[in-house]
Amino acid sequence: MSYIELTTPCIFGVEAILKKEILQLGYEIKKVEDGRITFIADELGVCRSNIWLRTAERVLINIGQFKATSFDELFEKTKDLPWERWIPKDGKFWVKKASSIKSKLFSPSDIQSITKKAIVERLKKEYNISWFNEDGAEYPLRVFIKKDIVSIFMDTSGEALHKRGYRTFTSKAPISETLAAAIIQLSPWNKDRILVDPFCGSGTIPIEAAMIAMNMAPGLNREFTAEKWKNIIPVKYWLNAVDEANDVLDTECKLNISGYDIDYKVLKLARENAKNASVEDKIHFQERDMRKTSNSKKYGFIITNPPYGKRLENEESVIELYKDMRPTFNNNLDNWSYFIITSFDEFERYFGKNADKKRKLYTGMMKANLYQYYGDKPPKRI
Ligand SMILES: C[S@@+](CC[C@H](N)C(=O)[O-])C[C@H]1O[C@@H](n2cnc3c(N)ncnc32)[C@H](O)[C@@H]1O
Repeated sequence: MSYIELTTPCIFGVEAILKKEILQLGYEIKKVEDGRITFIADELGVCRSNIWLRTAERVLINIGQFKATSFDELFEKTKDLPWERWIPKDGKFWVKKASSIKSKLFSPSDIQSITKKAIVERLKKEYNISWFNEDGAEYPLRVFIKKDIVSIFMDTSGEALHKRGYRTFTSKAPISETLAAAIIQLSPWNKDRILVDPFCGSGTIPIEAAMIAMNMAPGLNREFTAEKWKNIIPVKYWLNAVDEANDVLDTECKLNISGYDIDYKVLKLARENAKNASVEDKIHFQERDMRKTSNSKKYGFIITNPPYGKRLENEESVIELYKDMRPTFNNNLDNWSYFIITSFDEFERYFGKNADKKRKLYTGMMKANLYQYYGDKPPKRI
């Protein structure tokens, strides 16, 4: 197997969790930056990271990095990269996305076309042909320029990794699967503790929690672009990675995970999604107003994404809901911890208590905070 450097973009604020996931897979971290991590892997690592990383948005191969302040320089330095190692004679390749920050080169369409031209020039010489049919596998590229440093990546994932394949049905404001997985892993919840999402919508938080508890790889039910790259990754590596994931899957574990929502229609979607993810027997979904949340057991976790008033509900009803949350939880849940993610700026004011810890998470253009309130830990068993 050979040395392959991979970069995984992620939601701003979840880098520490993604780093932990990469280390758990056994790979060496090279660099952690805001919103992306670079690590050292090999061909099998491409398969394993696509199948396993819960909080990465995609897995990219680093093809090269160089400084360029003119289009001539971009062309020449792109042409100097060993493209024949990655793209075969019949490969279909194009720059799917180009972006530029604080750099001399800033026109995405020019960056896209010049990069493509340079690769064509290189491959014409290497393969001794003048025309490419491009009727083989797809090799989508991404070019990112920051302060004149050009990074060229090849996208191994295809559809973003938050698309696990189970969520065919969504509520109106679903949380992304990667963000749900991140907030669960930012909490000390584990499979022996109770988890309740009182605003579960299409069920993303309970489903992701069940998958984590069962050690279920999130990418088992979907395809990846790099599965077709027979010139780089032998099919047996994909099969090995899937076998490995199936071997460690714990379908027998007993879990206490519930999802409630006031909207019975959305709960129907949640049940369908849980079925698609093969976790339907691990989650109890029920129509219930948050104000009726109760549980006789101690030391559980509320992990939730309540309405936040910007897109759907009017602000006043959201404020009323936030005001009712703490009395409901405090009166009916003994020593529970609450992990609440919302982009409503004044959440703490209406909830009536400052969080023990607060973490900013950026998803696309949306800024949210994860408010963390800790209950006592259960006494240690002797
Ligand atoms: C932001 S969405 C949650 C989205 C969810 N995390 C998902 O991935 O689909 C908020 C949810 O709160 C529900 N809701 C609003 N008021 C409620 C209440 N009083 N009690 C319980 N659920 C409520 C809405 O029906 C909606 O599904």
